[in-house]
Amino acid sequence: MEYPHVAIRGVSKKFGNFKALDQVSLEIAQGSFTTLLGPSGCGKTTLLRSIAGFYQIDEGEILIDGRVMNDVPSHLRNAIMVFQDYALFPHMTIKENITYGLRIRKTPQEEMNRRLEKTVQYLDIGMLLDRMPGQISGGQQQRVALARALIMEPEVLLLDEPLSNLDANLRNAIRAELRQLQQRLRITTIYVTHDQSEALAMSDSIAVLNAGKITQIGTPSEIYYHPSNKFVASFVGTVNFIEGTIVDVDGQTIHAETKGLPILIDREKFDEGTIKSLERSKKVLLVIRPESVKILDQAQKETTNIFQGEVDHYIFEGSNIRYWIRALDSMIIIDMFDPGETGVRNGMVRFRLDPSKVHLIAI
Ligand SMILES: Nc1ncnc2c1ncn2[C@@H]1O[C@H](COP(=O)(O)OP(=O)(O)OP(=O)(O)O)[C@@H](O)[C@H]1O
Ligand SMILES: [Mg+2]
Repeated sequence: MEYPHVAIRGVSKKFGNFKALDQVSLEIAQGSFTTLLGPSGCGKTTLLRSIAGFYQIDEGEILIDGRVMNDVPSHLRNAIMVFQDYALFPHMTIKENITYGLRIRKTPQEEMNRRLEKTVQYLDIGMLLDRMPGQISGGQQQRVALARALIMEPEVLLLDEPLSNLDANLRNAIRAELRQLQQRLRITTIYVTHDQSEALAMSDSIAVLNAGKITQIGTPSEIYYHPSNKFVASFVGTVNFIEGTIVDVDGQTIHAETKGLPILIDREKFDEGTIKSLERSKKVLLVIRPESVKILDQAQKETTNIFQGEVDHYIFEGSNIRYWIRALDSMIIIDMFDPGETGVRNGMVRFRLDPSKVHLIAI
């Protein structure tokens, strides 16, 4: 990475005897959108608050622009946090809310007006300025909370689940807007969510946290297609896990088997370290996304990686049908896209695992 804008090095934070953050290290590139993703209670807010300077950390260092921040008070860090509940001041107008931080800093009127105009224009909230927080919608409050942070022109923007109070449609719309705004302003952003689809859609980089530790850092596609452990695989998207045994590895193909049946996996996308670790008889977990399995028509002639199972149940989701199929002594989830009105299968089906899309995790 180019010189990291924010660097978190070996950070631990305890509440009493409980370790909320355990040796967390993470580097955040200038202008990037980095998401902290993980289940409730894993330490996301604690890490964000530590970066913002609301918590003293017990171990490690937090650097912004190469400067150690551990003893720098929150208001001098140039990192601004937007809270999940927006925390607007109910007795102030929207305009007073947005300019609050600048007024506290005794910013000259002219400069304040210039920044207000710019921010209001970015977020398209000009018509709200004279109202009170109680007189605007949740989505509008969300924008105002963002405006109140952006007007400070922080180097680092810290967002704690800012969209979680919104309905699904609004969340999708603001998600896209927020990402565009971030890219336009090139503002280094650290975003907290427990919503994996939000993380995949918005981020340059995702850090997955579990129980106070970072378990994987990667781009959305690395996290989705190459989860480094079972936790990440099952937390991000839907997966099938099939236990397998390595039989052989040749120039092109990893040969595995499950329940006595052969499974071929393209070796191409695995690094040499992983390939070396795959000695004969090694047990592995095969990780397969529902969309990477294809239900076959009678006519199709593929001969490898074909299995049979019985449809247990399915749900129609519009763009796809999701099937639960009893096969290989477990329940395999398969998505069939664009099924059409007569697309439903019942009874026994044959399906194929795409050898280029089977991922392996050591167990
Ligand atoms: N001030 C505190 N005192 C004691 N324990 C705390 C405090 N703040 C957080 N914790 C605990 O630390 C752990 C991490 O909390 P944190 O708020 O960082 O989780 P989170 O990942 O943000 O979860 P959520 O998705 O639910 O917001 C939790 O087990 C929580 O109960
Ligand atoms: Mg939280």
